Amino acid sequence: MRRIGVLTSGGDAPGMNAAIRAVVRHAAGRGLAAMGIRRGYAGLLDGEIEPLGRADVANVIQRGGTILGTSRCREFFEPAARARAAEILRQVGIEGLVVIGGEGTMHGATLLAVEHGVRVVGVPGTIDNDVYGTDYTIGFDTAVNTALEAIDRIRDTAHSQARLFLVEVMGRTCPDIALAVGVAGGAEEVLIGGASEDVDALAAELRRSWERGKRSSIVVVTEGTEQGRAFRVARALWEARGLESRVCVLGHIQRGGTPTARDRILGSRLGAAAVDALLEGGGVMVGETEGTVARVPIADAWERRRPVPTHLLTLVRDLA
Ligand code: F6P
Repeated sequence: MRRIGVLTSGGDAPGMNAAIRAVVRHAAGRGLAAMGIRRGYAGLLDGEIEPLGRADVANVIQRGGTILGTSRCREFFEPAARARAAEILRQVGIEGLVVIGGEGTMHGATLLAVEHGVRVVGVPGTIDNDVYGTDYTIGFDTAVNTALEAIDRIRDTAHSQARLFLVEVMGRTCPDIALAVGVAGGAEEVLIGGASEDVDALAAELRRSWERGKRSSIVVVTEGTEQGRAFRVARALWEARGLESRVCVLGHIQRGGTPTARDRILGSRLGAAAVDALLEGGGVMVGETEGTVARVPIADAWERRRPVPTHLLTLVRDLA
C-alpha cells in the first residue's frame, strides 16, 4: 500500500482535525502518501481529492470543525454512487480509506468495503457518543464541556429569579450528552428517551424539591428526534400542572469550538491507530475502550448499540 485517503463525514465534531493530522503524519512516517477528500462522501463522488502532506496539517490540532469539510450524503446510499466512488478511488490510486464520522459514516464505509473490496478503517467522530465499539467518540467531551458552561450560566439567572429551566442538548436519540451534563451540572432531572415523557412525575418531583427548599431547577432534555422537544415539555408542564419554566435549546453551539485536550488526544490516538489498522488489512473501526485502543468489525459500529448509561440517571436523581 502506497497511498491512502482520509475523509470526514456526517456532523462535524471538535477533535476531527487532530485525527486528520494524525492520519497524515503517522502515514508519512510509514512511507505512505495521504490524500484528503473534501466534503465527505459527497466530495468523493465529485472527485474533490488532493494530496495532504505534513505541512498541510500544521496548526490545525486546536481548531474545531473539520478542515476537510463534511456533508450528509444521501446519494451515497445508492449502489450506483458507491460503485462510482470505488472507481474514483481506483483512478486516483487510493488503496486504503480512513473515514472519520458517526454511525452513518461507518455504514457507508461498510458497504464500500463489502461491495467493492475497498480497504476501509473507521474512526468514531461525532459529538453524540452513539457509536458501538468505543467508550467515547471524538467530539463528545468538548460538546459536554460546552453544554456545561452554558448550564452554569443558566444556573446563575435561574437561581437569581427562582426559576425552572429546561435545557435541551444535542445527541439525537442518544442520551449520553444529556446524562453527562446532567451529572456534571447538578441537574434535577434528565429527560431521555423517546417522544413521550411523564410530565406528571416530573412536576411532582420538582414540587418535592421546592418543598425541600430549592429555589431553582435545571432539567436537561435530550433532543430526541425533534429539535425543540423542550418547548413541548414546557407547554405540557404549564398546561397540565401550571408550572412556569424557561427553555434554552443549546443547538449547534455544542458542535463548535476549540477541542478539549481529551478530544485532541483521542483524535491523535485513533488517527494513528487507523493507519496501522489499514496496513493490517482494514475492515475495522478503531476505538478506545477502558483506555486502550481497540478494534471492532466496522459493521458492528453501526449495527450494534452501546448500552445506555442508566447509572448516571440514577446518580442525577440521587444527588438532586
Ligand atoms: O452530528 C450529531 C448532531 O449534532 C446531532 O446531535 C444532531 O441531532 C444533528 O447532528 C444535527 O444535524 P444537522 O447539523 O445536520 O442539523
